[in-house]
Amino acid sequence: MPKLGVNIDHVATLRQARGEKEPDPIFAAYICELAGADSIVVHLREDRRHINERDLRLLREKVKTRLNLEMSVEGEIVDIALDVLPNQSTLVPEKRQELTTEGGLDVILNADLIKDVVSRLKNKGIAVSIFIDPDKEQIEKAKELNADFIELHTGSYSHSKNEEEFKERLNELAEATQLALKIGLRVNAGHGLNYQNVCPIAQIKGIEELNIGHSIISRSVFVGLKQAVVEMKELIG
Ligand code: PXP
Repeated sequence: MPKLGVNIDHVATLRQARGEKEPDPIFAAYICELAGADSIVVHLREDRRHINERDLRLLREKVKTRLNLEMSVEGEIVDIALDVLPNQSTLVPEKRQELTTEGGLDVILNADLIKDVVSRLKNKGIAVSIFIDPDKEQIEKAKELNADFIELHTGSYSHSKNEEEFKERLNELAEATQLALKIGLRVNAGHGLNYQNVCPIAQIKGIEELNIGHSIISRSVFVGLKQAVVEMKELIG
């Protein structure tokens, strides 16, 4: 059974929507760990639209499982990672206008820069994962750049429009996993996984960890909303 990394970015998105102190991502991390999360994932974006540097430093202190920092290969963010020392860094592409990470990192196009960043992070004892599409050339290049893990982008699978496409994408991910394992990479997967589509991915042999954010934080609103209203009614009464 793969492990579960919970991405808590959207707890901070909600906080930023009002510019207030709640909901607190540190408290969210604590609850996720109590519930069985195997790691806590956050993306410190260049525009700081949700998680900020203070959150990251507090999480580094408080997280008891593993802290996985999703990050671009941009200079300032790399320096922060080298200082904060997450257990793992997941290198992702980043565009300011995007709503979420849109595609895998192109490790062929950006090979020299990525190689340098991988080496600096690994020298500090940080395990390095690279978020890539399930593509043979990209996987082989990630190995050549010395990554410990790849995280296979499951976005195309998640957005499949029909059963045929869904099976094709699933097959692609299974084959990509086998290739990566064969050449000595460890394999994680994530993006767009939810309560309807996670099971077939969890059954792919060799995937170590699934990183899931949006669907879990979305569902938490509905499994928690009733209790929140009951508590407020009690206080008012
Ligand atoms: N993995 C990576 C590399 C991501 O960038 C994201 C989104 O932040 C996720 C996993 C989680 O995706 P989702 O929020 O769709 O579950």
